[in-house]
Amino acid sequence: MSKPVSIAVVGSGYVGLVAAACFAEMGHRVVCVDNDESKVKMLREGGVPIHEDYLPELLGRYRNQGVEFTTDLSTAAKEAQVIFIAVGTPQSQTGSADLSYVDAVASEIARSIDSYKVIVEKSTVPVYTNEWVRRVIERNGVSKELFDVASNPEFLREGTAVIDFLHADRIVLGTDSEKAAALLQEVYAPLSSGSYYRSSTAVPGMRGESDPPPVLLTSTKAAELIKHASNAFLAMKISFINVVANICEAVGADIEEVAKGIGTDTRIGPRFLSAGIGYGGSCFPKDVAAFRYVSEQLGMEFELLSEVEKINTEQKARFFRKVRSALWTFRGKRIGVLGLAFKGGTDDIRESPALDIVKQLLHEGSTVSAFDPAAMDRTREVIPESAQMRYVGDAYAAANEADALLILTDWQEFRELDLARLHYTLRYPIIIDGRNLFEPSAMAERGFTYLSVGRPP
Ligand code: UGA
Repeated sequence: MSKPVSIAVVGSGYVGLVAAACFAEMGHRVVCVDNDESKVKMLREGGVPIHEDYLPELLGRYRNQGVEFTTDLSTAAKEAQVIFIAVGTPQSQTGSADLSYVDAVASEIARSIDSYKVIVEKSTVPVYTNEWVRRVIERNGVSKELFDVASNPEFLREGTAVIDFLHADRIVLGTDSEKAAALLQEVYAPLSSGSYYRSSTAVPGMRGESDPPPVLLTSTKAAELIKHASNAFLAMKISFINVVANICEAVGADIEEVAKGIGTDTRIGPRFLSAGIGYGGSCFPKDVAAFRYVSEQLGMEFELLSEVEKINTEQKARFFRKVRSALWTFRGKRIGVLGLAFKGGTDDIRESPALDIVKQLLHEGSTVSAFDPAAMDRTREVIPESAQMRYVGDAYAAANEADALLILTDWQEFRELDLARLHYTLRYPIIIDGRNLFEPSAMAERGFTYLSVGRPP
């Protein structure tokens, strides 16, 4: 049995909360710190501020019996052996990551250090951040022997974050100190030794068996680069397949066949080759820009990444042109929209390509009836309900009397829609699918005008 470690997680956003819950599930004692009093109160009272599978179950199980919530960073830091910093690193105006929250937290932690601590960056941060954290702590008078700084990036996807954490492809531990490496290996021992999977107390329905993930011990700088390079590479894969999809459209080939043909090469791999309306979310757009900025600062133009961003922007514009080609004009038309979240399985609308498309429809004078299984409340805050913008209770209400139906998010439940009912409900049976959820030939047989991405109609 591995030894429990005392852990503080600073920041209760999606990385912090998921990490806190999963560390408790792995048998550690965790204190989760946030400076937002109302959030801490909500968490203490049993609320869960984000939509994430299995998180309510884990927090329900460990609240006050493994995980505690507090606004008191100084006490939490004093009592912890390992302190994970999981605060936001938003994009600043230059495209770089704004590290002011990390800076503030590092200073506050420094003021409470009275015994050896490992301070770990878990937020996505640019290379050299560990150096800055180290300097900030030293400037606050803490001697070198009392702390180490490490980098342990996360590769969690929203919606599947708990599974991604407990069944990771790899665990990256970046540190320049053997003592810190040993302590961090203890933290992850339940996963890396496989003991967690053998004696899993996992929530019913959650994956049980798994091969233990490999632990990659690297330098701190390498760990920081691994995170940025991974996200930039995945974004590049998406932009790449989107351009290939556009070529497929031009020659009348099917992108699904091409993507399968590419992805079965094990050197390339099948995942992240789904063509669509471009990537969104709180990570890829921000991280591609930040990584490009890092390389510029180092005197290198990472033009490949500028191109990835350009293709991503163009992909939305191209989809909009497709809608225009099907509808001719927009003013006075009623458009049904399925999906607002940046991807299925989440209520997150940050940088969602769906929202850009909805805004453009409204700008051009259409009336929109939108449905999303989870993201409507959040979207209402950005695009208020009005005579022109309506939020409806299900997909059929969105399609009701619409001149066309647009599919903008890959929710699983959209794949299971009753197509005969949709056909009957729409004013014209036109579906323009930005996520390739249906088979074009089957849709044609059912009498739809069906346009998708990179596939012959
Ligand atoms: C992404 C990474 O996948 C995670 O590994 C990483 O930890 C996380 O960012 C982060 O840095 O925190 P996430 O933003 O949750 O995770 O979403 P993804 O599932 O990666 O999807 C990102 C966007 O790409 C979505 O808009 C999705 O619809 C789009 N996408 C994804 C495609 O258009 N095609 C694909 O084949 C895959």
